[in-house]
Amino acid sequence: MTQPWWRSAVIYQVYLRSFADANGDGIGDLAGLRSRLGYLAELGVDGIWLNPCYPSPQQDHGYDVADYTDIEPDYGDLAAFDALVADAHDRGLKVLMDLVPNHCSSAHPWFRAALAAGAGAPERARFLFRDGRGKDGELPPNNWRGQFGGSAWSRIIEPDGTPGQWYLHFFDAGQPDFNWRHPDVTALFDEVLRFWFDRGVDGFRIDVAHGLYKHPELPDWADSHSHFNAHAWNQPEVHEVYRRWRRIADEYGPERELTFVGEVWVPTVADLAAYLRPDELPQAFYFDLLQQPWQAGLFRSSIERAFDGIGATGATITWTLANHDVHRTVTRYGIVRPEPYHDSLPEDVSLVRPRGEVDPALGERRARAATVLLLALPGSQYLYQGEELGLPEVLNLPDDARQDPTWTRSGRLDPGRDGCRVPLPWTPQGPNYGFSSVFGSSGGRAMFAPWLPQPDWFAKYAVSEQLQDATSTLSLHRQALSMRRELFPASEAADQSITWVDIPGRDDALAFRRGDITCVVVFGDEALLLPEEWGEVLLASLPPQEGRLAGNAAAWLRVQ
Ligand code: GLC
Ligand code: CA
Repeated sequence: MTQPWWRSAVIYQVYLRSFADANGDGIGDLAGLRSRLGYLAELGVDGIWLNPCYPSPQQDHGYDVADYTDIEPDYGDLAAFDALVADAHDRGLKVLMDLVPNHCSSAHPWFRAALAAGAGAPERARFLFRDGRGKDGELPPNNWRGQFGGSAWSRIIEPDGTPGQWYLHFFDAGQPDFNWRHPDVTALFDEVLRFWFDRGVDGFRIDVAHGLYKHPELPDWADSHSHFNAHAWNQPEVHEVYRRWRRIADEYGPERELTFVGEVWVPTVADLAAYLRPDELPQAFYFDLLQQPWQAGLFRSSIERAFDGIGATGATITWTLANHDVHRTVTRYGIVRPEPYHDSLPEDVSLVRPRGEVDPALGERRARAATVLLLALPGSQYLYQGEELGLPEVLNLPDDARQDPTWTRSGRLDPGRDGCRVPLPWTPQGPNYGFSSVFGSSGGRAMFAPWLPQPDWFAKYAVSEQLQDATSTLSLHRQALSMRRELFPASEAADQSITWVDIPGRDDALAFRRGDITCVVVFGDEALLLPEEWGEVLLASLPPQEGRLAGNAAAWLRVQ
C-alpha cells in the first residue's frame, strides 16, 4: 500500500532570512529562495519547511507574528509566495509553513487593542493579563521563568499612564502568549489554516506545539529552575486543538495529503507519542537524538527509545539533528573539551548549544557520518540549511552584531542562536559570498551587508566550490539523498523496523540492517574492519581503505 509522502520525506528547513537575497538588501527573501529551488531539487529533498515569513517586527525573527495571513514586506508579498509555491510544486517539492499559535507579536492588532482597552476589558481576555503581586502590584503574578531567561511576565503602562497589569510571554516581551481558553483564538487559527491551505501549502510545522494552554490558575511552579514547567506546558487541553486542526486538514480530501509536524518538547517519549495519536498530529520532531553527544551507546539507546515509544504506535518517526535553535552539528560533535555554562542557565542550553574547545575537522567528519546514519533510518528526516555544506556554528560573532533576544535576556550568558543563522555562502567571492544578488550592489560590492556578518572562512564552504568537488559534504548529501530514494523507495510498504547487528569487541561502533542494507557508524577513532559478509560498500562518509572504515565515519553496504 502506498503511504502518504510525509511519512518518509526528507524536508529541508529554509531559514528564509539567511538563505538567498534577491534584491541586495542583506536579507533573504522569497524571490531569492525561488531562484534557488533548482539547487534544492538537485540536492534531492522532497520539500521545504519555511520559517515564519509573516509580517513581524522581527524581535524573534518572525516568531513574533503581527498578521497571520500576509507576507513580511522584507521577504516579498502574497504574489511572491504564490509564485514560490507554484514553482516548488512544478519541481515536485512540497511546501510547509511555520505556524505560531502559542503567541503573537506585541504589534498584533489584538494586543494593541488589549493595551488600549484597559484592565478588565474584553480585549485583554485574548491574552493572559493579571494583576501583579506585592503591595502595589510591583511583583509578577507568579514565578514562571521565560524560555529566553528572566521572568515570563512584563508589566505594562496602562492607558492612563500608571504602571498596571502584567502579561505572560514565555519568550520575548514582544511575544505575548494567547489565552487559548478564549473562543476568538480558536477561530483565528481555524481561519489561518484555511487561508494557507487554500493557497496550496502542503502543511505546517507547529511552533511550541506543547504550549498554547496554561494551567487555568497559573500557579507558581515549585521548581522554578527546572527546564520543564509542568503548569505551563503540555496541558491536556492542547490535544483537542490538534484533533480540530486534523479535521480541518481532512476537509481538503485525502489527495492533498496535508501534514502537520509539531515542535513538541516534553519530558518523555510517551508524552511525545500522545501527540501522534491517529486523529492528532501526523508528525512531531524526535529531539532526543539531537541532544545526544557523539557516543555509540547514547545514540543507540536514543534510537531504540524512538522505535519503542513512537514506531511501535504505528506513527512515523521524524528524525532531525539540527535546526535554527541549536548549534550546528559540526560544532556540537567537534567539541573536544567541554566547558559548562553558568549554572543559572537551564540544563537544556548545554544540550543544544554545548560549548568548549572545538576541532572543526573532527566535527565535520562526525557530522558527515551522522548524516549517513540519519538518512538510513526509517521515517522522515529534517535537514537544516547549511548542514549540507558542513558549516560550523559561527561562535565568535561580535557582541554588537548579535540579534537573538536570548543573548540579552540571559544576561549574555547564553550565546543564543545567531551562530547557526548566518547567511549562506553560495560563492567564494561576490556580494556577501553570493548570498545577495548583484542587483542592488555598487562596484561589485554588496550595498548592504548581510543582516548577520559572515566570517571570511565562509568562502571555503561555498556551494559553487562544493559542487565541483566529489568529496565535499554537499556531494555526500546529494549522493546519500539520491541513494536513499533508490534503496528505500517511499512507495514500498512501510517497514519501519531496523535490526541491530553486533560488532564484537567494538562498543564504540553501531550497525543495523534495514532490508538488505547495513548501515555502520564508527563513533570511536579506531578504524573498523568491515566483515566480508556485509557485502559491498554503496556509500561512505569517508571511503574505506583496504576494507577498513575509518573512525568517525559511516557507510551503507549491501549483501550481494
Ligand atoms: C520555537 C522556535 C524558536 C522561537 C520560539 C518562540 O522554539 O523554534 O525559534 O524562538 O519557538 O516562538
Ligand atoms: Ca532581500
